[in-house]
Amino acid sequence: MNKYKILLLPGDGVGPEIMKEAVKVIDTLNSIDKSHISYSYGDIGGIAIDNSGVPFPENTSIQCRDSDAILLGAVGTKKHDKNENTLKPETGLLQLRKSLDLFINIRPIFIFDSLIHSSSLKSDLLDNLDIVIVRELVGDVYFGEPRGFTGSENKIGFNTMKYSMDEVNRIADYAFKLAQKRKNKITSVDKANVLEASQVWRETVSELHKNNYENVDLSHMYVDNAAMQLVKDPRQFDIILTGNLFGDILSDEASMLTGSIGMLPSASLSDNNAVYEPIHGSAPDIANKGVVNPIAMILSLGMMFEYSFNNKDISSLIKKSIGNVLKAGIYTQDISDSENFVSTSDMGDAIIKEIKQNV
Ligand code: IPM
Ligand code: MG
Repeated sequence: MNKYKILLLPGDGVGPEIMKEAVKVIDTLNSIDKSHISYSYGDIGGIAIDNSGVPFPENTSIQCRDSDAILLGAVGTKKHDKNENTLKPETGLLQLRKSLDLFINIRPIFIFDSLIHSSSLKSDLLDNLDIVIVRELVGDVYFGEPRGFTGSENKIGFNTMKYSMDEVNRIADYAFKLAQKRKNKITSVDKANVLEASQVWRETVSELHKNNYENVDLSHMYVDNAAMQLVKDPRQFDIILTGNLFGDILSDEASMLTGSIGMLPSASLSDNNAVYEPIHGSAPDIANKGVVNPIAMILSLGMMFEYSFNNKDISSLIKKSIGNVLKAGIYTQDISDSENFVSTSDMGDAIIKEIKQNV
């Protein structure tokens, strides 16, 4: 009997290709009785604009609410790039996050040993790299009002960066609890030397620390310094707690430590909903060529097992299987330093073979 009902939102660009590989993994786990998942498909992003006129259609919203978890590929198309904001593919993703109040975004930054060579950093800085970026996902300048355009000849675009104590408190509380399960260490990243929104951020994090989590080793860092420290000495970090915009930027930067942005999964959570997606975008330039790396997507499925289905065994099995594939020298183009690389679907097949062998 199927225990969990999940919604698959492949999206745009490379999204459908990587989703196909994740579905192969789900089918495999179902067939060996290791998961009991039923799935259906929905539209988001550019494909939703094409099919229904908007990037996050009502029907998708209903499907989301009706599922135990959501697996998402990527959104973004060249075709809709010039659309006004409400009709951009990315807006669909933001509406999904906002409508389900997915305020917690977890982006684990870790490196598979055999990929140390593909990082742009020296390998002695990377051994055992293990950072978690906890990014606030439904506030900040991404959603702050007022926003828009004004002026005519000299057009002005404007946005509002803001954080309330309540918004900061709930994400910080999540990060402190996570810290207690890890190394008891948090670096909170802001720009409190300049921005009022960051001053509220810092005060709130400090207050919560003082009142409830004094045993956690908390430090504060300005975002410009954090960007520099990440490439200077990344292992000084354990949990990076930060806002929506800074988290977006720092997570792309941190992904490069791991060899490729095609390697990193994420989970976006609220009290009763969850979306799992790779941190990379839709990469239209490499779409439909069979070269995209499906690992971030398959690891995102692994995170679903861990966070939504409370099944760490399967998430570890997936991670271990991927590690073995990489150890065997099987790489997609983005992580290969030679002309020797496999296609998206061959990578999926290799991972499935390992899963079957290690189960
Ligand atoms: C991410 C992406 C999104 C973001 C885009 C696609 C809207 O870059 O998930 O990091 O900016 O949050
Ligand atoms: Mg991003």
